[in-house]
Amino acid sequence: VLYAYEQLASEGFVASDRRGTVVAPMTPAPAAAQVEPAPQPPVLRGLSRRASKLRWENPVLPELADGAGAFVPGVPALAEFPLSTWRRMLERAWRGLDPARLNYGDPGGEPALREAVADHLRAWRGVVCDASQVLITDGTQHSLDLCLRAYSDSGDRIWLENPGYGGALAASRAAGLKVSGIGLDAQGMAPRPADWRRRPPSLIYVTPSHQYPTGCVMSLGRRLALLAGARAAGALIIEDDYDSEFRHDGAPLSALQGLAADAPVLYLGTFSKTMFPGLRIGFLVAPAALAPALLRMAGHLAPRGRSADQLALAEFLRSGQFARHVRRMRRLYRQRRDALAAALQRHLGDAATLHGASAGMHLALRLNDARLSDAALAAQASAHGLALSALSTHAVQGDPGWNGFLLGYAQVPAERMDGLARQLAALVR
Ligand SMILES: Cc1ncc(COP(=O)(O)O)c(C=O)c1O
Repeated sequence: VLYAYEQLASEGFVASDRRGTVVAPMTPAPAAAQVEPAPQPPVLRGLSRRASKLRWENPVLPELADGAGAFVPGVPALAEFPLSTWRRMLERAWRGLDPARLNYGDPGGEPALREAVADHLRAWRGVVCDASQVLITDGTQHSLDLCLRAYSDSGDRIWLENPGYGGALAASRAAGLKVSGIGLDAQGMAPRPADWRRRPPSLIYVTPSHQYPTGCVMSLGRRLALLAGARAAGALIIEDDYDSEFRHDGAPLSALQGLAADAPVLYLGTFSKTMFPGLRIGFLVAPAALAPALLRMAGHLAPRGRSADQLALAEFLRSGQFARHVRRMRRLYRQRRDALAAALQRHLGDAATLHGASAGMHLALRLNDARLSDAALAAQASAHGLALSALSTHAVQGDPGWNGFLLGYAQVPAERMDGLARQLAALVR
């Protein structure tokens, strides 16, 4: 009742004084004759041309992330995350905040987190940087958006791996860029001399640690050649190192960014895979010469905040909890990968070929019979509880000739792999 009175008072329908509450005097409604004819409802502008060019059939994540089906790619083993430790660190971070820290934050992110990220990248990834070059963002998608706004104009050309990451394609289209899909070979993105001459890029987006979606790892030779080519073309490389912490076989290759002094590289990383996607914290490392202007721009476009989350994450890194969690997940993912690879081999035999299983949380399964349609099979599979992402839907331009599935194994227990692979094989057969 009190709430009803309060609302009536706040909207001016009743007025209160010492004597009580009375109905407020109302302005009489205009006589019917004076009422103007209702105007035509305005026609709302639809999506812009740039937005209409975004592709929807391969959602970056949200629709896939609701746990529907085995093999959803891009989602870590959420059930294994040390939630109680994280909760404790969040509580501690909130307790330590004074009211002044509730204001807009530093445009680059919390200094403690920038320091912790710079230390982590130097030690783990061979990235050459200090904290002044690190910009904390809301994740890779946000970093990409910032990079494209900062370093390209509408109509500029970006090279994307083909097949490639839908998030990078969406960001490029939203920025009004010309997209050139560059094919892959066993060593990663493989531009031909004619590509450099006829379609020179302003920006080059790559996933060298674990190509998305095919999983190949860019060789050292190809990394050096790409750096040299980019330098000669005056292009910037955007290195998305999203899966680098989970290398299962062979020695880890350090980041492209650290391979040459003053490399023309914008290095992007995310905590979506090593922590959890809902955290929405990632980072961008800019070349020292570009960092100050980028930070100023980011401050205008994306004011920072969420100090407590960032401080808790800095402590998670500093205390060694992060390294511990990643080590545990690496072991778990390797086990799951081994179980999946063996089960696929057992049930599919030579009907399909495995690619890109040496790192990350997913592998690519290429169908050997070109008459099969991966998209049609993926649609059938969803009725059986399998979330197969068809490789053909990751084409950036034309048909790069990848027919098969992207299988995310991080969330699937090893003991389920045999049954799931058998189901998959039955479908293919
Ligand atoms: C290639 C690639 N980069 C980055 C990400 C993570 O992006 P974000 O930090 O926006 O969650 C993903 C997620 O699947 C990915 O596949």
